[in-house]
Amino acid sequence: MRKNLVIAIDGYSSCGKSTLAKALAKKLGFIYIDSGAMYRAVTLYFIRNNIDVNNQEAVADALEHIELNFHSRDYQSHITLNGEEVSEEIRQMPVSEYVSEVSANKLVRKDMVKQQQRMGKSKNIVMDGRDIGTTVFEDAAVKFFMTADPKIRAERRFKELQSKGDTTTTLEEVFENLAHRDYADTTRAESPLTRAEDAIILDNTELTEAEQLDFALDMVHQHLP
Ligand code: DC
Repeated sequence: MRKNLVIAIDGYSSCGKSTLAKALAKKLGFIYIDSGAMYRAVTLYFIRNNIDVNNQEAVADALEHIELNFHSRDYQSHITLNGEEVSEEIRQMPVSEYVSEVSANKLVRKDMVKQQQRMGKSKNIVMDGRDIGTTVFEDAAVKFFMTADPKIRAERRFKELQSKGDTTTTLEEVFENLAHRDYADTTRAESPLTRAEDAIILDNTELTEAEQLDFALDMVHQHLP
């Protein structure tokens, strides 16, 4: 029986999972872990080193040369790839365009899940992703499944990219990328994105961040001992 508490937040791309997860972690004093950042960092490594995701030998070899670490500063999670801070670069379009393919690879998933389970072994954590409540922590104390209108999601993500200085990516490109990732994430063979039976649905199309946090805290307090 697990002694530490795990809160799992899964859902579609750009649904505000990380915003809610960070806010919850801060409120509860838990550690926040962004599992998507790990798949993104692996993808960045593959891009930089021309690793063909369909070449299993090359993938296995690459995984042996990848070390990922999180550094949490004020509940903003920073990830390093072999010691290099890559938190900004992993959010850019080249990575977003390739990450679905990389995260569908069985060897990549096996490696990431193992690392994630290790991170959540002894500490109270909030982890967000696609398979946290269904695969990584099936025994999570509380599970959320987040969703929102695809157009709203694309607008939010577009604004975020613009605020970071990306003036070349269009709203249509962001929308297409999200649609592609939704499709890839829900139809892949290896632990596809799906709602765990015991996950609480949170559709935030019309909710503010504060309203989402209130709802989630309410649910957490109802479910935690
Ligand atoms: O949460 P995100 O959009 O940063 O995640 C990037 C990609 O990683 C997403 O398209 C699917 C994949 N992912 C996954 O397959 N499993 C997870 N637990 C987290 C992310």
